Amino acid sequence: MAIINKLDHFGRGIIFDEKITFVNYALPSEEIDYQIIKKSKKYNLAQITNLKTKSADRVDVPCPYFFKCGGCALEHLKYSKTLEFKKEKVEEILNKYAKIQSNINVIENPHPYNYRNKLSLKIKNGKQGFYETKSHKLVEITQCLLAQESINQIIKDISYFHLKNADITFRTNYNNELLIIIQTADKINIDLSYLTQKHKIVGIIINDAIFYGEDKFIEKIANRLFQVSYNSFFQINPYVTTKIFEIVTENVQKDSIVADLYCGVGTLGIVAAQKACQVYGIEIVPNAIKNALINKKINKCSNIDFCLGDAKEVIDKIKAKIDTIIIDPPRNGLSQEALSNILKITPKDLIYISCDPMTLARDLKILKERYIIKKIYIADMFSYTYHVETVCILSLI
Ligand SMILES: C[S@@+](CC[C@H](N)C(=O)[O-])C[C@H]1O[C@@H](n2cnc3c(N)ncnc32)[C@H](O)[C@@H]1O
Repeated sequence: MAIINKLDHFGRGIIFDEKITFVNYALPSEEIDYQIIKKSKKYNLAQITNLKTKSADRVDVPCPYFFKCGGCALEHLKYSKTLEFKKEKVEEILNKYAKIQSNINVIENPHPYNYRNKLSLKIKNGKQGFYETKSHKLVEITQCLLAQESINQIIKDISYFHLKNADITFRTNYNNELLIIIQTADKINIDLSYLTQKHKIVGIIINDAIFYGEDKFIEKIANRLFQVSYNSFFQINPYVTTKIFEIVTENVQKDSIVADLYCGVGTLGIVAAQKACQVYGIEIVPNAIKNALINKKINKCSNIDFCLGDAKEVIDKIKAKIDTIIIDPPRNGLSQEALSNILKITPKDLIYISCDPMTLARDLKILKERYIIKKIYIADMFSYTYHVETVCILSLI
């Protein structure tokens, strides 16, 4: 028998004993019997065998796959408490690794279910699903409660793709249109007429070649339209992305010069261009830059230039004196070279958007020697998972 002290950063209950034990799906204050399912030198992994005292924050889980799938970690916890968990997690990481103590503002997801506009499935021996965490064992699924309805509808008809072994990704937009991206060695035998009659399929891309329709579609966020190619990054949660647009607008100064590093299809730079006098967007994926150039036209922005290349190198080539840098890197954060080039430019303001608080803390530890952290937000971009988006507003000391 044990009592759970708190949650770890992956949403597992922790028992502090001689050796630390992580218990899947256990919540703080719960009294449990448990069984150890894995032992390692530093910690044990356990599962509940008997839930003796239930937390008042425990809720019924709506997803039938939750305890097997591993995609979500927090569906058994009240939504408001998942936000507290994420806030404490980011506070703890920033404090421990960067000695930052700051009041964190929380941005809720107005649609904590059915928000994802992108979902990737494995098809193995004709069955579709997700791999269990850290394994190649398939958990068969017929829907995902995090995905938007148009994705769940096409999953119901996945048998019409007649795939035996494949990776399949569905992307959808504001208009319930679909882009379907398939990687497979199978012989293709897709029932196109049935699928295209029943679903708004804009394009099917197989092994990076167009099989049907287009390889891009239009997404709409906060009344702005953005072209997105099948392999361009786009935030997976349109509701929370709208709120990030608002933070960017608030923190870009009128008539300033802005650099949007890791700009994807140009969204944040285009939002910034509304107030700035000039914006430079830098992105490494060619299709994303092609989209960004179209998006500049669609959004009637004459004051933005996009450049294809590695942000850490291209930023050094911009001649204008940059006032604000928007930094929105992939999970691994900023390289040494990117950090030192940003510090060489010393813009007045930084807006750092991160999907990994660990690499964010590592980078802020260096940036805070020259910048004060004015505001930190966590945005619940990935509801019911342990992932969290953090937005930091920094200002030159
Ligand atoms: C987290 S996404 C942000 C995209 C965009 N800011 C948005 O909100 O949609 C990170 C982007 O960085 C791009 N990227 C990755 N490594 C890069 C690099 N070294 N230089 C420039 N862009 C890079 C990725 O292709 C991706 O589009």
